[in-house]
Amino acid sequence: MKINSEICIVGKKVVLVPYCSYHVEKYHQWMKSEELLNLTGSEPLTLEEEYRMQRSWYEDEDKCTFIVLDREVLEKTKNEQDAMVGDTNIFLTDPSDSSIAEAEIMIAEQKNRGHGLGKEALLLMLKYAVSALHIKTLEAKIKYGNTPSLHLFTNLKFCEVKRSDVFEEITLAVKVTEEWLEFFSQCVPQYVVQRYQRRE
Ligand SMILES: CC(C)(COP(=O)(O)OP(=O)(O)OC[C@H]1O[C@@H](n2cnc3c(N)ncnc32)[C@H](O)[C@@H]1OP(=O)(O)O)[C@@H](O)C(=O)NCCC(=O)NCCS
Repeated sequence: MKINSEICIVGKKVVLVPYCSYHVEKYHQWMKSEELLNLTGSEPLTLEEEYRMQRSWYEDEDKCTFIVLDREVLEKTKNEQDAMVGDTNIFLTDPSDSSIAEAEIMIAEQKNRGHGLGKEALLLMLKYAVSALHIKTLEAKIKYGNTPSLHLFTNLKFCEVKRSDVFEEITLAVKVTEEWLEFFSQCVPQYVVQRYQRRE
C-alpha cells in the first residue's frame, strides 16, 4: 500500500519500515526455509519473483507490508539489512468491506525469536491497522500446532472462528470494539510514527 510507503513506526525493541527492494535479497534468503514456508502458508519464489512480489505489494491497495528491524542493532550498525528480523503485514480480505483485514507476523530466524520482538511488531502493526486504516475486524490464520503464534494471538483476545482440516489451519478473529481498544492500548509499550525515506 502506498499509504505506509513513507512512514516508519518506532517501538521500544523494533522499528517497522515499509518493505522496499533494498530488503528483498535477505527476505528471499529467509523464505528458502521449509519451516517458514509452511508456517506462513507461502510458496517458494525465485529472486526475480520476489522482486515482482515486493513491487506488487507496494502498488496493491489491499496489502500493507512492513519489515521488522531490531532497534538495538539498527542504532548500533545504522544498517537496515543487518537489523532485519522479520515482517508483519495486514491485508484486506473482503473486496466489498475494507474494514476486515488479516494480520501476519514472522520473526524469521530462530535466534531472534522469544525476545519479545514478534509480539511488539504485531502490536505496532495492529495499532496502525486500527488507527490509520480503520480496520474493525482483525483475523489471523494459524497452522495447526503453531503454539507460539496461537498464544500470541489468543493473548490479544483473538478467538477461533473457523478450522480447516484441508489447510490444517485455524482462523482467529477479534472485533475492534471500544472495550477491546481499551485493553489493546495498554498492551502497546511505545508507538511513534515518523517520516521514512523510502530505500530502493
Ligand atoms: C510466532 C512468532 C511471530 C512469535 O514471535 P517471537 O518474537 O518469537 O515471540 P515473542 O518473544 O514476542 O513472544 C510473544 C508471545 O508468543 C508466545 N510465545 C512465544 N514463543 C513461544 C513458545 N515457544 N511457546 C509458546 N508460546 C510462545 C507467548 O504468548 C508470548 O507472549 P508472552 O511472552 O507475553 O507470553 C515467531 O515465533 C515466528 O515468526 N514463527 C515463525 C513464523 C510464524 O509462525 N508466523 C505466524 C504465522 S500465523
